[in-house]
Amino acid sequence: MSRARIVFIGSGKMAEALIAAVVSGGVEAKNIVASDVSAVRRDCIKRVFGVSVTADNLAAAKNADIIFLCVKPAQIPDVLDEISVSDAARRALVVSIAAGVVIRSIEKKLPSARVIRTMPNTPVAVGEGVVCLARGRHAVRRDVKTLSRLLGGSAVIVEMPEKMLDAATSISGSGPAYFYYFAEALADAARRIGFDKATASLLVAHTAAGAAAMMSSPNAKSFSDLRADVTSAGGTTAAAIKEFARARLADIVRRAVLAARKRALELSRR
Ligand SMILES: NC(=O)c1ccc[n+]([C@@H]2O[C@H](COP(=O)([O-])OP(=O)(O)OC[C@H]3O[C@@H](n4cnc5c(N)ncnc54)[C@H](OP(=O)(O)O)[C@@H]3O)[C@@H](O)[C@H]2O)c1
Repeated sequence: MSRARIVFIGSGKMAEALIAAVVSGGVEAKNIVASDVSAVRRDCIKRVFGVSVTADNLAAAKNADIIFLCVKPAQIPDVLDEISVSDAARRALVVSIAAGVVIRSIEKKLPSARVIRTMPNTPVAVGEGVVCLARGRHAVRRDVKTLSRLLGGSAVIVEMPEKMLDAATSISGSGPAYFYYFAEALADAARRIGFDKATASLLVAHTAAGAAAMMSSPNAKSFSDLRADVTSAGGTTAAAIKEFARARLADIVRRAVLAARKRALELSRR
């Protein structure tokens, strides 16, 4: 596995997180090629990981066993046109991370490729990611295992039918931003009651990290039991939760998720 030749087409933020994941999973830099139109990005990726870089997508794809498509969704058709003349690309395991780009549209350009469409999230960069995925018609279970071996040290891997990937976008894909938004509000509230900016950020970040560890530990209690554990009747937490409930926070979150899923569906290229 670790000798598979892995190519990243598009070497932006998300590709950087994925390269970090595969390198920390034991893939040697000499087996990775990163391609990007931007010299700045190529230099950055080369400096950080010591992998080969190129501006030539086709040359990169020519020797690939696994191709990660990491350009923006609008750039995917051009990239596929470019690499589809390569035999290796047509045989490769092609892993797309492009939001809303459906498997069928990739298979149209690479009819015999084993395509896996994924929805990763940015915490992959720190080994705490979620990667939701769906298989194309030629991708087999072994391909999912291959991807799990590559990324499993940095993310929880969840396979689902393709139609659920847009829903996953609205939960785990966009989800980190929801927590950051809440963190911004909590840090702002902390400043209003007297903390300086650094202390407010420290308290909020570590409280979030602690809560996340409690929620994801083996044999974790349910989210509501964990909440109940810090909410005694008539106490301080109860006073705060009452305010959230009065503002119907759960309804707001539900509406936000529906809006995100609607947007993901609108952006889907079918
Ligand atoms: N960021 C997230 O949270 C997230 C989560 C899940 C999925 N995704 C998906 O990940 C993909 C990449 O997102 P990102 O945030 O990493 O974007 P990004 O930072 O803009 O990275 C894309 C890179 O691809 C380069 N590029 C453009 N056209 C190219 C071409 N024809 N060949 C090679 N490289 C090319 C871009 O260069 P220029 O900037 O010079 O155009 C840029 O460096 C998107 O499809 C997105 O839907 C992102």
